[in-house]
Amino acid sequence: MKIIHTIAELRATLDAERSAGRRIGFVPTMGALHGGHGQLISTASESSDCVVVSIYVNPLQFAPDEDLDTYPRMLEADSEVAERAGAEFVFVPSDGEMYPHENWSTVSLRVVTEPWEGASRPSHFDGVATVVTKLFNIVGECAAFFGEKDFQQLAMIRRMASDLNMLVEVIGVPTVREDDGLAMSSRNLRLTAEHRAQAPIVNRALRAGATVIDEGERDPAAVEATIRQVLATAPAAAPPDYVAVVDAASLRTPDVVDGEIRLLTAVRFGDVRLIDNIGVTVS
Ligand code: PAF
Repeated sequence: MKIIHTIAELRATLDAERSAGRRIGFVPTMGALHGGHGQLISTASESSDCVVVSIYVNPLQFAPDEDLDTYPRMLEADSEVAERAGAEFVFVPSDGEMYPHENWSTVSLRVVTEPWEGASRPSHFDGVATVVTKLFNIVGECAAFFGEKDFQQLAMIRRMASDLNMLVEVIGVPTVREDDGLAMSSRNLRLTAEHRAQAPIVNRALRAGATVIDEGERDPAAVEATIRQVLATAPAAAPPDYVAVVDAASLRTPDVVDGEIRLLTAVRFGDVRLIDNIGVTVS
């Protein structure tokens, strides 16, 4: 596996791969790779001829009070995870390589970015859309793999690639979970033992919502109430930032539960904020 630091070298390398008829799989990350990232990379390597993983902690998507400076940077361990999962190239640009001068251009989407995570982190999705656009322009034609764990981010990127005719096929990869259902995340390591023991309630609550839909409930408010009731049984869980029953493409709450639906929530345990979601198809 080769580590590449410059845009020019990555472009030349991937152009040569494409000229040799190889399909590129791309997994953008901010490093601190865990089993969920490993799954993204191995899924990418199953359907691509050559996988490139980017590791870049993007300052544009952090608010001033967020953890940009303390965000874990561990290139050696990350390279091992990437290589084991099947990556051929790891792209690790510096800030100067990605933003050589003040950034005057922002990619910004409406509708899908406005509620839920967007409501509590106002400039976050602009930062993600902008850096992902830059990365797509750098990597070129490819299939790009994103985890369903950050479902609103995935929905935004799908829409962006379609709205802007990007030469990228956006592929969502199911969330990897611990045995007790907790979605894998680098944040889980910061949970206290008591909070870790109660955190699987997040997934259990969402599954309870899916169950009432399977049993015939079609009122989004009733499904939401079920999820909230289950979350309230965990004494260490703060009242959720949101519980949402949404259309999987627009992330808007429908009048009636129908079609591709996503159940989303964000819940704090102490100072650790966990997000999770599951999908339900109603036909
Ligand atoms: O999901 C992430 O790790 C980041 O938001 C991404 C897509 C790599 C953009 O910085």
